[in-house]
Amino acid sequence: MTDTYIAKVPTNIAFLKYWGKSNEREQWPANDSLSMTLDLYTETLVQVWEGPEHCFSFAGLELPPDAPFAQKPLMYLDFLGKNLGFKEKLFIRSHNDFPASCGIASSASGLGALTLSALACWTRSDSFEALEEKGYTRGAIASLARYGSGSACRSFWGGFVRWYRGVSVDQQTVSQIFPATHWALRDRIVILSAERKSLSSTDGHKLAWTSPLFAKRLAVLEERGKRIEDALARKDLSRLGPLLEEEALEMHEVMKQSRPPCVYLGEDTHRFLDTLRKVRQQEHLACYFTLDAGPNVHLIYEEKDSRNVDPLTKGLRYLDVGVGAGPQLSCKQR
Ligand code: PMV
Repeated sequence: MTDTYIAKVPTNIAFLKYWGKSNEREQWPANDSLSMTLDLYTETLVQVWEGPEHCFSFAGLELPPDAPFAQKPLMYLDFLGKNLGFKEKLFIRSHNDFPASCGIASSASGLGALTLSALACWTRSDSFEALEEKGYTRGAIASLARYGSGSACRSFWGGFVRWYRGVSVDQQTVSQIFPATHWALRDRIVILSAERKSLSSTDGHKLAWTSPLFAKRLAVLEERGKRIEDALARKDLSRLGPLLEEEALEMHEVMKQSRPPCVYLGEDTHRFLDTLRKVRQQEHLACYFTLDAGPNVHLIYEEKDSRNVDPLTKGLRYLDVGVGAGPQLSCKQR
């Protein structure tokens, strides 16, 4: 038995969405994105392994390398090892602290935790400081994680995080714009469908440029990004909320008008959003929605309004999540 390196990396929900890439191979996004880190984590434990290939298990189940769920992490691990010159094979055990098959995208936390734990194990580093001494700053690790899943790079900070596209591939950066303590927002994730997405986000990104709306979207994003950041700075939900909704609906309109169309929202989603709009007007409820690449709805509101949101989600399956504090790394000695 060798030492076990343990990474716990949060997932995040984008307020300004990353959809579409300028350079696919280099994972260079077509626009900036901005997210709230969530208090939901993937924990990944990694040890050096004497076997001929990496071994990957998820939620206690060892997955064969050709299992759909194992392919992406294993391919990414090979990419990391080859590019950074690490030859050791790894024994990887991963699990989420949120229920499996609840339809919550876990690629950001999953690929983030894999990046951090693998690097920690290969370099025998038990902390971010130790990794930095070996040349892997948090920014460099986030930058590597984006090759696994673009949105994973934003999961390396707590609070509110912006991924700046920059003017060229090597100018992109990620940084925290406000810490987790800045604003006690909540994300109540209403699970309307737990089915796997019919189209992965990797394939979806490729279609963005086929949508006649995409260029128009890109033209307004800089201004929307500024306004979202300003509303966050002022902790003004009455300004932030409508921007979140406009942004989420626009991304889904781009998706819908792609060739072929990619439709992630179901009738249940539209029905729920109608109810939300009605209740919001009737009750003056300070609660707004955003959407990911899936049918589930993320309700964003201030912690103090939690009780008022309850009637809206009565009888529905949901996860109630706060702002996350960022990743953690540790090592258990043999
Ligand atoms: O990181 P990916 O390749 O799974 O893409 C994420 C896409 C969205 O979740 C829809 C938006 C975002 O910025 O997180």
